Amino acid sequence: MNKEQAQKRMEELYAQIEEHNYQYYVLDRPIVTDQEYDHMMQDLIRLEAEHPDLKAPHSPTERVGAEPLPHFQKVTHDIPMLSLGNVFDESELRDFDRRVRQGIGQENIEYVAELKIDGLAVSLRYEDGQFVSGATRGDGTTGEDITQNLKTIRAIPLKLREPVTLEVRGEAYMPKHEFEKLNQRREEKGEELFANPRNSAAGSLRQLDPKIVAQRHLSIFLYGIAQVQGLDIHSHSEGLEALERIGLKTNPETKVCHSVDELLDYIQYWTDRRAELPYEIDGIVIKVNHIQYQEQLGFTAKSPRWATAYKFPAEESVTILKDIEVNVGRTGAVTPTALLEPVSLAGTTVKRASLHNEDLIREKDIRIGDHVVVKKAGDIIPEVVAVVEERRDGTEKEYHMPTHCPECHAELVRIEEEVALRCINPKCPAQIKEGMIHYVSRNAMNIDGLGERVIIQLYDQGLIREVADLYYLDRDELLQLERMGEKSVDNLLHAIEQSKENSLEKLIFGLGIRLVGAKAARLLAAQFETMDRLMDATEEELEAINEVGPKMAESIVTYFDNPEVCALVERLSVAGVNMAYKGPKLQEAEAVDSPFAGQTVVITGTLEHFKRNELKEQLQGLGAKVTGSVSKNTDMLIAGENAGSKLDKANDLNVRVIDENELINLLSPPE
Ligand code: IVH
Repeated sequence: MNKEQAQKRMEELYAQIEEHNYQYYVLDRPIVTDQEYDHMMQDLIRLEAEHPDLKAPHSPTERVGAEPLPHFQKVTHDIPMLSLGNVFDESELRDFDRRVRQGIGQENIEYVAELKIDGLAVSLRYEDGQFVSGATRGDGTTGEDITQNLKTIRAIPLKLREPVTLEVRGEAYMPKHEFEKLNQRREEKGEELFANPRNSAAGSLRQLDPKIVAQRHLSIFLYGIAQVQGLDIHSHSEGLEALERIGLKTNPETKVCHSVDELLDYIQYWTDRRAELPYEIDGIVIKVNHIQYQEQLGFTAKSPRWATAYKFPAEESVTILKDIEVNVGRTGAVTPTALLEPVSLAGTTVKRASLHNEDLIREKDIRIGDHVVVKKAGDIIPEVVAVVEERRDGTEKEYHMPTHCPECHAELVRIEEEVALRCINPKCPAQIKEGMIHYVSRNAMNIDGLGERVIIQLYDQGLIREVADLYYLDRDELLQLERMGEKSVDNLLHAIEQSKENSLEKLIFGLGIRLVGAKAARLLAAQFETMDRLMDATEEELEAINEVGPKMAESIVTYFDNPEVCALVERLSVAGVNMAYKGPKLQEAEAVDSPFAGQTVVITGTLEHFKRNELKEQLQGLGAKVTGSVSKNTDMLIAGENAGSKLDKANDLNVRVIDENELINLLSPPE
């Protein structure tokens, strides 16, 4: 065969193999036998070996060839990968539908109901029809580049049937029978078993060696388009049809529904039949079909208002509570944990469960030796929900919380109004370790390879005493640690180095300031832009931010008043940790458009055209801080009919007062 003939044959094979992949993986209608398919692949491998220069980047042999990676690169999602809100029963679903109808101002809404696949969210990018890259969700903003691993998934075409440029989102998963085969193989080899298909899919995609991933036989369903050029799409269902047409695998059980009753039928149908599916699902996703309506409804900080997940009820099991252990958390809170006779729950084996606090143990009268009902809360941390009293035989023992910290032996205190017992010794090693575990966690500084085990080792060896020490670690000292080879040490040092580039919100959250969660950290970073400015902020300035209340403001000021904290921040900064916000500038964008941006507003009296809560949300969306009482800090009072003392006070204080008509004028955008 001469070169020209070889090239022609290779192109034929590319097209044929891609077509068979499509028939088999996307349409589920194979038209050749496995042997015929294997033959074509063998032919292609031979030709490519003879003519390596002719090999195309989208060749199907590319799926298994890549070399292992030292670590994954981080990638920023242009369009964040959000999560979904949840509903758990019919009445919550009806509330969701009501909010949607109100938001759109229509009585009849078309929804799409889909299976909620229990796998791992991924994002795929195609340019001119060629698969170029794919990433995990990560924290929603930053994920990991797992292109090589995704190429091993045959349901992901390396070349689309049309030359479109798009970014699609979907769920990679491990089919149930593949999961069973995998665990069987692992058992034979004496390896640790995966708890469920979800974990094994996630574990597989985190493999640095694509050859291992290829053996795991993962699959995927695509369920959404994040960005697209070259397709004209007006509804979600049209989008799914387009995805299938261009060669991407969508779930066949998707259904367009026209009422809540129809949605409930779909939910019931799949609740009864989920065990028969060849893959695991953990609920049903409900989406508003028309894109125009989706846009009208928009998003909250975390999730779209136009979609929700109906979660299947958590499974419950009964087991014996063998003992109670107490742990000291990052804030010094001492919490009891139940040690259980291992029991299978929603596909995982559970050995520990949260008991929250001593009051709960008393209230439920939980005793050591009891048979207890355990339940998965939100599908992650199991908790003890009740005691099976009928099964008591009199040998069960009441439990009392310790009076001293199990870690540093300081006396525990119970702070007024709080249920938790606390260790208030700031030098308590348990708290320090937990604080560092929090600092490196995914939503905080996201340092891979620094799990709980390594932090504890580093601490116990005296190599770290505070988070800044992480940036001064010595390679040789790390090599002395247990289970730390050259490669893991280098990966770890690389991950630590990379974390220096994080945007400010990750650092703020990572510091673990009391009451400051990930969302508040983002708001603070966006508002103050640099650590220095945040450290100088007064309680008043902090409170002016929506969602920062007086308690959080006080906690932040108190935190930064501490000279030890200032010294810590200084050391982090000297180490090269970025102290500036890198995200979008929220305030400026809002300030241009809205007369409410940055204004402190109070609403009073009866309004004819607005519901109080909805108006409040709308104003907050425009950058206003809406508070309950008029003070010298108030910028504007919105006064409806029969406004009483607040109006008097506003007049006394010379606060601007507007009536409902003026409000409507201010809210309607200028021509
Ligand atoms: S839509 C804006 N559809 O569930 C969010 N998600 O919390 C778009 N998932 O992380 C998600 N099946 O990984 C959507 N048919 C489906 C899904 C699905 C599974 C996962 C997804 C996401 C999580 C939602």
